[in-house]
Amino acid sequence: MSGVWVRTRSELREQRRQRPHQCWDHLLAAPLWPKYEANLGTLLRTCDAVGACLVVPRRRWIDEAIARGNTLRHPSCVHRVGDPFDWLRRQRAAGSAIVGVELADDAVRLADLPAARRRTVMVLGNESDGVPYEALSMVDTVVEIPMVGRGHSLNVAVAGSLVLYKLAGLL
Ligand SMILES: C[S@@+](CC[C@H](N)C(=O)[O-])C[C@H]1O[C@@H](n2cnc3c(N)ncnc32)[C@H](O)[C@@H]1O
Repeated sequence: MSGVWVRTRSELREQRRQRPHQCWDHLLAAPLWPKYEANLGTLLRTCDAVGACLVVPRRRWIDEAIARGNTLRHPSCVHRVGDPFDWLRRQRAAGSAIVGVELADDAVRLADLPAARRRTVMVLGNESDGVPYEALSMVDTVVEIPMVGRGHSLNVAVAGSLVLYKLAGLL
């Protein structure tokens, strides 16, 4: 392909929203049992890109990790929750769709996942143990990203970012 013009930073800045990100409360990325701080910063950046909110447990190391890993210059939307299971139960009871991201039998393949049509919570698993069974019993849909390589799984922030883009209808 010839004649490709790569947009400059100032061109990109003009094309982006001018006002700070606010809570749209429509699409929520929920790494509710996080282990590694680097993944939170990566997920926060994807949340900003697609207009989603990040939901994390209320812990000091998580706040510090998000502050360190947030390479965006503007504030982002972060919700802090107490007991993740209790929070998830209340989201479900209030009518939100709960989408679990996990390697599971009978999961929907990413390509077949429709964009979110109502308030949707995307639940991500712990880096070692995945999504707890108690949480899987609360999901409406489980989505799996097909893999053909030898690794067991993707990095959680990569998996979450791919699914967020699909849910946001931007892929
Ligand atoms: C590193 S994985 C968990 C480890 C996994 N249980 C294993 O045995 O390798 C962390 C999380 O990333 C997400 N994940 C990673 N790869 C995925 C894939 N291919 N499809 C769906 N979710 C995935 C899931 O939320 C998972 O719980």
